[in-house]
Amino acid sequence: MKGIILAGGTGTRLYPLTKIVNKHLLPVWKYPMIYYGVEKLKEAGIEDILIVMGKQSAGLYTEFLGGGKEWGVRLTYRIQEEAGGIAEALNLAKGFVYPGDKFVVLLGDNLFEDSIKEFAADFAKQEEGAKVLLKEVADPRRYGVPILLEDKIIWIEEKPTVPKSNYCVTGIYMYDFGVFDIIQQIKPSSRGELEITDVNNVYAASSRLSYNLLKGWWTDAGTHASLLEAGSRLAKGKGDQGKKDE
Ligand code: G1P
Repeated sequence: MKGIILAGGTGTRLYPLTKIVNKHLLPVWKYPMIYYGVEKLKEAGIEDILIVMGKQSAGLYTEFLGGGKEWGVRLTYRIQEEAGGIAEALNLAKGFVYPGDKFVVLLGDNLFEDSIKEFAADFAKQEEGAKVLLKEVADPRRYGVPILLEDKIIWIEEKPTVPKSNYCVTGIYMYDFGVFDIIQQIKPSSRGELEITDVNNVYAASSRLSYNLLKGWWTDAGTHASLLEAGSRLAKGKGDQGKKDE
């Protein structure tokens, strides 16, 4: 299985830090944010990784990660020229993955404790379709919120004012190659972006969207408060991929 980390976007909520450096390179505990996604994929046995990034700070990604040798992975990079949404960024992975492939997609600002190894193994056994990982959160209104029916998601509402469950759809997704046909079908949302939730709902509507629950902590480090929270959770030792902090 291959891995894709989506690290585009302008990071407006983290301004003024993001005035000079891309969000995914900001320090979170000991490493730039982008490191943690690479580490999670590596830990799950996924060593062929594509990083989709914006133009801002592009050289710094390669300066830090290089070709991936130091981290035990093989890295490929693609540039998302303009912010057009998560699904548009994912579309740039065509050519990195091939028909018949299944792959894990991480949003680069999603930091979390659990290993994704078992979930990816589960998805490898799934005949077709997609899988998302969910996390129970106190205020789901900021996220995609799933409506569940037994072991399937039947619909996802993006940032609903009245959420129908306490779960959020995290930025940890698994897809089959059919996702690229779906991206061709969907239309830009009212904010002019190709939304990943619209993609996931095509799978959901045809009962092909499975899910698993994250048990450990999870945060999207897209705000100053959540960036600080992620750093302090990692500093406490949990989620530092089991390595002892010297
Ligand atoms: C995106 C997705 C949303 C998901 C969230 C997780 O939201 O659209 O469904 O719950 O990532 O981080 P965004 O952060 O782009 O607003």
